[in-house]
Amino acid sequence: RTIDEVSRYVAEQRQRGASIGLVPTMGALHAGHISLVEKCVSENDVTIVSVFVNPTQFNNPADLASYPRKEDDDFRLLSAAGASAVFAPGVEEIYPGGIDAQPEHHFELGMAAEVMEGKYRPGHFQGVAQIVSKLFRMVTPDRAYFGEKDFQQIAVIRNMIKSEGIKVDIVACPIKRADDGLALSS
Ligand code: PAF
Repeated sequence: RTIDEVSRYVAEQRQRGASIGLVPTMGALHAGHISLVEKCVSENDVTIVSVFVNPTQFNNPADLASYPRKEDDDFRLLSAAGASAVFAPGVEEIYPGGIDAQPEHHFELGMAAEVMEGKYRPGHFQGVAQIVSKLFRMVTPDRAYFGEKDFQQIAVIRNMIKSEGIKVDIVACPIKRADDGLALSS
């Protein structure tokens, strides 16, 4: 639940020479997430999955309030998929003092964050960059896994790590679809 706990866990694993993969999620997991976890498990000694509904990437408060939260089911699925650890912090742990108390920081995300979804959801990609950069600094993974369903998000995250000077391999994974062809989504 805490940054201390995940840092200690990562330090222990690094001491024994383990490679570390991270799968960042907002929970309400489906087969798409599980495919990321399985790929991460196959490519790293340790797989850490974060489960955190990040308030700063929701530009509509109603979407944040209604976002599905299914922690018990998520933990069961992650255990079955072979995840080594779950980092599921509360909002106060990630944003001490609340969201408005955070220092102003503008992420350089390039054109990728301005067009398409970026155009219609102001602040969304800044919020994604904020949480993903925090998770990368907390977990210090060698590799991080993201679904190509959010293709634009992957481009933005690649720009973010370049501009923030964060060393991590971003692994893009294929979309999982329902029988009718729609990409699985929480
Ligand atoms: O793709 C998601 O689920 C989220 O945007 C992410 C990357 C976990 C950041 O909150």
